[in-house]
Amino acid sequence: MKELLNDILRLKRERNAVILSHTYQPPEIQDLADFVGDSYGLSRRATQVEAAVIVFCGVRFMAETAAVLNPDRTVLLPAPDAGCPMADMITPEQLRELKAAHAGAPVVAYVNTTADVKAECTVCCTSSNAVRIVKSLGDVPEIIFVPDRYLGMFVERRLGRKMVLWDGFCPTHAMVRRETVERLRQEHPDAEVMVHPECIPEVQDAADHILSTGQMLELVRSTTCREFIVGTEEGILHTLRKAAPHITYHRLSPFLRCPNMKKISLEKIRKALETGEPRIVVPPEIAAAARRTIEAMIRITES
Ligand code: 13P
Ligand code: SF4
Repeated sequence: MKELLNDILRLKRERNAVILSHTYQPPEIQDLADFVGDSYGLSRRATQVEAAVIVFCGVRFMAETAAVLNPDRTVLLPAPDAGCPMADMITPEQLRELKAAHAGAPVVAYVNTTADVKAECTVCCTSSNAVRIVKSLGDVPEIIFVPDRYLGMFVERRLGRKMVLWDGFCPTHAMVRRETVERLRQEHPDAEVMVHPECIPEVQDAADHILSTGQMLELVRSTTCREFIVGTEEGILHTLRKAAPHITYHRLSPFLRCPNMKKISLEKIRKALETGEPRIVVPPEIAAAARRTIEAMIRITES
């Protein structure tokens, strides 16, 4: 393990590389990374990279976002099969049909979409800014929101307006049931419950906080509560424990494990740095259109 880590650090220097990691990555990868963040933080960070190579530890749509924002840098995804099933639930063709059926409606794409779907949209969002992004579109008659229907329903309820929702979902988060929240509450009566908006509405209703992963991190840094039940992918427990070690954390469910987020390993990172593969390349015309929607999100979020 020590030799492996030394190899990675040496190759990182030689290749002028930076390692970015999502909070759902395994602990050893988070500990190695130069930056650990949520989808929004990673998109933001990807606009500020100076290194020649970005080793992206997350899933494909995140690495694509980094590639779209850095057309002149090399972006490596050490496990090329690390996809996001939710992102694959809508294709550009399906989105074009939906747009034709709702002519003129702006399209909000959750960042969990492929670059060619983003290229067809008005603006992106992440779970941390979805409400703000939809609100910024004003009182238009129709808004299309893809692909996560549960995040879409969360936004609808926050803003008191209906949208045209796609039928996508996260297979990991959507598996959690309300009864599980109730059982965990009985087991840990002093704990507050935080869940991700990719959970089904019944689970959201049973929670104390509905938060993106970045917002969960902010909460544990600022709260006086000493115990939490955490309703999102288990990788974040490591991030939370590092940020606020005095708090006790309970995983809401053993099913909250995204298999794709676990496909990257230290060995695969070393190999990617050695070979310069697997590289994520987005065709320039798709990248240009996708970049507009990601930059629109950043502009609105930071205005
Ligand atoms: P965040 O936007 O909170 O990082 O979540 C990304 C994701 O894939 C959730 O499943
Ligand atoms: Fe996709 Fe769900 Fe995994 Fe997030 S947790 S990357 S939405 S499958």
